[in-house]
Amino acid sequence: MMDKLLKFITCGSVDDGKSTLIGHMLYAAKLIFADQEKALILDSKVGSRGGEIDYSLLLDGLVAEREQGITIDVAYRYFTTEKRSFIVADTPGHEQYTRNMAVGASFADLAVILVDASKGIQIQTRRHARICALMGIRHFVFAVNKMDLVGYELDIFKKIEKELNELAADLELNDVKIIPVSATEGDNVNKPSDNMSWYDGEALLTYLENVDVSDCDAEEGFVMPVQRVCRPDSEYRGFQGQIESGNISVGDSVKILPGGEEAIVSSIYVMDEEKNTAHAGQPVSIALDRETDVSRGCVFVKGTMPEVSRLFRAIILWMDDEPLIQGKNYIAMIGTKEIPATVNQIKYRIDVNSGEHLSATTLEKNELAECEIALSEKIVLDTFVKHRALGELVLVDRVTNMTSACGTILHSMRRSDNLTWHTMDITREVRAGQMNQTPYTLWFTGLSGSGKSTLANALEKALHMEGRHTMLLDGDNIRMGLNNNLGFEEADRIENIRRIAEVSKLMNDAGLIVLSSFISPFLADRRRAKQIIGEESFIEIYVSTPMEECERRDVKGLYKKARAGEIPNFTGVSSPYEAPENPDIVIDTSKVSVEESVRIILDYLKKGRGNK
Ligand code: ADX
Repeated sequence: MMDKLLKFITCGSVDDGKSTLIGHMLYAAKLIFADQEKALILDSKVGSRGGEIDYSLLLDGLVAEREQGITIDVAYRYFTTEKRSFIVADTPGHEQYTRNMAVGASFADLAVILVDASKGIQIQTRRHARICALMGIRHFVFAVNKMDLVGYELDIFKKIEKELNELAADLELNDVKIIPVSATEGDNVNKPSDNMSWYDGEALLTYLENVDVSDCDAEEGFVMPVQRVCRPDSEYRGFQGQIESGNISVGDSVKILPGGEEAIVSSIYVMDEEKNTAHAGQPVSIALDRETDVSRGCVFVKGTMPEVSRLFRAIILWMDDEPLIQGKNYIAMIGTKEIPATVNQIKYRIDVNSGEHLSATTLEKNELAECEIALSEKIVLDTFVKHRALGELVLVDRVTNMTSACGTILHSMRRSDNLTWHTMDITREVRAGQMNQTPYTLWFTGLSGSGKSTLANALEKALHMEGRHTMLLDGDNIRMGLNNNLGFEEADRIENIRRIAEVSKLMNDAGLIVLSSFISPFLADRRRAKQIIGEESFIEIYVSTPMEECERRDVKGLYKKARAGEIPNFTGVSSPYEAPENPDIVIDTSKVSVEESVRIILDYLKKGRGNK
């Protein structure tokens, strides 16, 4: 069945004649009101085509475009012909607007990519096609424009056609149509051109009116990610979501992932109507014949088996003004699931224009890369090629809430699948019991020179005298050993803290009380350390000695060097320190002596946690 509505994107730059082309189609669609048309004719007298209607002026609302001659954002326009309705997303073609194009493309079923016949395929043509393909567009039209400028020459078109076919093969584009047009003259835009009798295909608009973009049966089996569990009364429990592929009937058996439980469909509602069957594209509410453990992010499947994984490779397009940092924690949205995620590693950056693979440790806005991404737990996902809805991914910054990236999953990785957590007979409790103590981690955070090490050292002595079994981990020492491959850039600090948190946990498992003393300047990293170590075992001590005092002390002479510009990324000087929001203990060593501080911490431990 052909959809009545076609959503498409146009890609090209002003120079390619994109605005003129869209304007021409809108004009033919007869959606322009009379006075608007008059206004246009008047306006065009001062437009660029002296006397003739300048179709590019039809594009409404984009004052900036007319002033600067460029399109600045994604503009959506609606038009309709007798055969079909259209929404066209119009995005700027320049490289710095790659993310705008991605946003437009994510909405579209088809891309119209302009090629200037007088120039041939350009690097931007490759970029446009690549981004559209990445965003899942399966239907492409290359409009080879300005045929009038090359004398409507078949040979010139043939040459470009050949190159386009090579590009399409290169990018593995599915359905490709190549049409020679002239946007200014109207050749093959809305009707066949007399100037190119050698072309016997459809005009662009006619093609768009007829093209079938319903890829309904393209995907295997039935897939429905659960969006909401709905319980209007004690009787009914419906699982709501949109069917992403296939169809489902009452009486069918479905598998509920990630758990793998099976159940029979007992009823189906499409909108408010009870139905026997529902199919792809429909929002439904499905009830099952038995009690099941289902929540948002679960996926119902039949006749197909997506992956359940926490580690995968994906191609992502970075959209945030802030660069991507390896190891930093983001929120991933996959299907209907939202889950903490870390970009473990950028495998390589992909030049958006040439497709070349380049090495990279960070990504800037509008850059593209293949990455390894780890989620905090296993979820249902799939390759983008197999199940689009489960293979699309968005990364959101946890602090700013910005959409940082969008992307597509290439394949999941089994590395973590083949690891099994071994349950040992001698547990943390058993080990700690033998030491007659409860293990925990005292996490000291604060500026360099705030007194963390001194305090941690004195406290360890006091605990030791009480017969506790302890271990002290300290910034400078760990950085000379385990972490000697790490520096002080954000990504390295993240990894520094991750490793220390893991080591602290292992030592807690060994039964030890751990004192970890690190600047650990970032909130998010300490939050993750807390997750790794376990909330009940994590005690955060904020050594809040003011910056001025730390700098006055300057025990290691580092502030002086940092001020002289000799130490880049020095915390407090050229790199931020984010104070804890809810520390368990706060100690300002400019006000409280070491002995007093130790007593405060011991008191805290005796009163509450860690006491045994
Ligand atoms: S953290 O930020 O990654 O937690 P960590 O506590 O391990 O830092 O190491 C801090 C110690 O490294 C400081 O006490 C100081 O001696 C040294 N150091 C060297 N360069 C820097 C820097 N750029 N910023 C902070 N500390 C530095």
